Amino acid sequence: MRIVVLVSGSGSNLQAVIDAADADELAVEIAAVGSDAPGCGGLAKAGAAGIPTFTVPLEKGATPNRRAAWNRELAASVSRHSPDLVVTSGFMRILSAEFLSTVGVPVINTHPALLPSFPGAHGVRDALAHGVKVTGCTVHQTDAGVDTGPILAQAAVPVSEDDDEASLHERIKVQERRLLLETLAKLAAGELTLR
Ligand code: GAR
Repeated sequence: MRIVVLVSGSGSNLQAVIDAADADELAVEIAAVGSDAPGCGGLAKAGAAGIPTFTVPLEKGATPNRRAAWNRELAASVSRHSPDLVVTSGFMRILSAEFLSTVGVPVINTHPALLPSFPGAHGVRDALAHGVKVTGCTVHQTDAGVDTGPILAQAAVPVSEDDDEASLHERIKVQERRLLLETLAKLAAGELTLR
């Protein structure tokens, strides 16, 4: 299964996929890694692993027209690598309906909260601020909404009294990596099919 991974941040989930694929524990070929954030850690991790990378930056405060053009440019960059699946992991941009239809293969996303609770860019912070005692992570199929697509897998993570955003996020990421690898393995084996 050929995948393109989109990242904006440190790329720890990406590294887990790289390691599992390198160790032949996952029947996945990472065709390319793309980003909106030049110089981010995820691009460096991909480069270090010899994986082709591409960057399609988007300025802050971009107009709707500019966002539409950016989505088209990103879709073209992704499609050049002919993936069977696109994985967004720590990719902090909303993909448009046009992106999804142009790419024409399923997109899955990891999110650090138990959707449909706490969607958006600050899932861990928002869960802590709400005072939940249990949060977690979700792998879901991406639609044109904000973290709204069909849920594929979830794992719960208890919140400790002394947790801050960073400590809670680190424990969530442990489960997130496991969930992402399990989901990719099921997709690669044909045990899970996405429309
Ligand atoms: C992950 O926890 C991912 O779920 C989250 O960013 C982190 C990226 O970590 N994504 C979102 O919050 C998207 N709404 P990583 O760059 O180390 O893999």
